[in-house]
Amino acid sequence: MSSRDQRGNPVSYGSQEAIDALDSACNLLHAYQADPLAAADEIIAQHPDFALAHAFRAGAIATATDKTFDPELHKSLDAAERLAANANDRERQHIHAVRAWFDGDWERAIETWGRVSIEYPRDLLALQFAHLGDFYLGYSHMLRDRIARVMPHWDKDVPGVGFVQGMYAFGLEEAGDYRQAEEQGREAVALNPQDGWAVHAVTHVMEMQGRSEEGARYLSSSANAWAPNSMFAFHLWWHQALFLLEANDIAGALRLFDEDISAGGFGQALELLDGSALLWRLNLLGHDVGDRWQELAEKWEPRCEDGFYAFNDVNAMMAFVGAGNSGAQLQQLDTLRRAAAGFGSNAMMSREIGVPASEGLMAFGRGDYAQAIASLLPLRAKANRFGGSHAQRDVFSWTLTEAAIRLGDRALAEALVAERLALKPESPVNRTWKMRAGQLQPLHSG
Ligand SMILES: [Fe+2]
Repeated sequence: MSSRDQRGNPVSYGSQEAIDALDSACNLLHAYQADPLAAADEIIAQHPDFALAHAFRAGAIATATDKTFDPELHKSLDAAERLAANANDRERQHIHAVRAWFDGDWERAIETWGRVSIEYPRDLLALQFAHLGDFYLGYSHMLRDRIARVMPHWDKDVPGVGFVQGMYAFGLEEAGDYRQAEEQGREAVALNPQDGWAVHAVTHVMEMQGRSEEGARYLSSSANAWAPNSMFAFHLWWHQALFLLEANDIAGALRLFDEDISAGGFGQALELLDGSALLWRLNLLGHDVGDRWQELAEKWEPRCEDGFYAFNDVNAMMAFVGAGNSGAQLQQLDTLRRAAAGFGSNAMMSREIGVPASEGLMAFGRGDYAQAIASLLPLRAKANRFGGSHAQRDVFSWTLTEAAIRLGDRALAEALVAERLALKPESPVNRTWKMRAGQLQPLHSG
C-alpha cells in the first residue's frame, strides 16, 4: 500500500514521518511563511532518497524566478531526477515540470503542473506552482480558471482549503471579479490570518478599486498576523507604499522602502523589482529618492546579463535609468535583445514586451518623451504577456501619462487620464494628472 500525504495524494516514499514533515514544509510555502527551504533541507538530511522532497525544493526555488538561485535549483533537480525511477507518476510529473522550467520552457512546466492538479485535484503543491507560473507568464484567466477546476474537490474538511480560496481570490481579482475575489480572500484570511497570498488578494481588490485609505488600514491592522516570519511581507509592504502614495505620504512610502521592502537586503529579484517599481513611481510624481537608486542598481547589476525573465529585466532597467547608469542600461538592453532572439518562454516575453518597454524607459530617462510614448503606448494592449499583476503593469500607464504631460500632448494626456479616472475616480494621483493635463495647450486650438 502506498503512503499518502495529509490530503490523500499518493507518495512513493516509505516513511510517514518524512511525508508528514514535507506536508508541514509545503504548508509554509502555501502560506508564504519562512522557511520552507530550511524545512526541506532538514527532511532531505534525514531522508536523502525522498524524491518528492527534492522536487518540492526545486520547484520552490524555480518559482522565485531568480537566475542566481540556479546552482541550488540544479542541485535539487539533479537529485530528484536520480530518484525518479522509484517515484510514482505524480512525483515524476513534478520532476518533469521543474526540468521544463529549468530548461526555459515555462509553458510546458505550467502545463505539466496543471495536468497534475487535474489528475490529483488535492495536490496543492502542483496547483500553487502552476498558479505562480500563470502569474509569471501573464495567463490572467488561468489564475482564476485553473483554481476553479479543482474547487469541487475541496471542502471545509480538507486541510488547506483556505490556500485554494486565496489563490482563487487572486485569480478572480486579476479577472476583474472584485466582489467574489474579496469574499473568497476574506474567507481565506479568516481561516488563516498568516496566509500571505490571501491577504495579498484582498489587498489587490482594494488597489484596483482605488480604496487606498481602507487598503492602508487593512494592511497595517492585520500585519501582526501576516508579517512576522513572512517571506512575502516585502511585497505586501510595497502595496502599502502604493496606498501611501495616494495619500501623498511620501515620507511614509520611503520609510517602507528603507525598513520593510528592503528588509531582506534586496537579496532576490522579487524584492528588487518591488523596490525599483516604487522608486520609479516616486520619481514620476516628482520626488527625490536620494541615493536609493544606486543601491538597487548595484544589486541588479550581477543579473544584468542573465536574460532570464523579461519582467525582471524591465524592472532592472528602471533602476539603471534611475541611477543614471547608461552603461548598464545599454548592457541590459543588449541582454534583452539576445534573449528575444533565443529560445523558450522568455524569448517571446523579451521580444514582445521586454525590449520595447526598456527602450521606452531609457527614452523617458533622457527626456525623449515622444520616443518613450512611441515605445510604451502599444504595450498598454499586451503587457500582460510578460506576466505580473495589473497593479504592477500599471507602471506603464503611470509613465505614459507623465510622458504625455511633459511632452505637452494634451489629447494623449487627457485620454490616459480619462482611462485612469474611469477605474479610480477618487484617486488623488489621477486627479492631479487630470489637473495638469487640463493646463496644457490644446493641440487643435486654432
Ligand atoms: Fe501584488
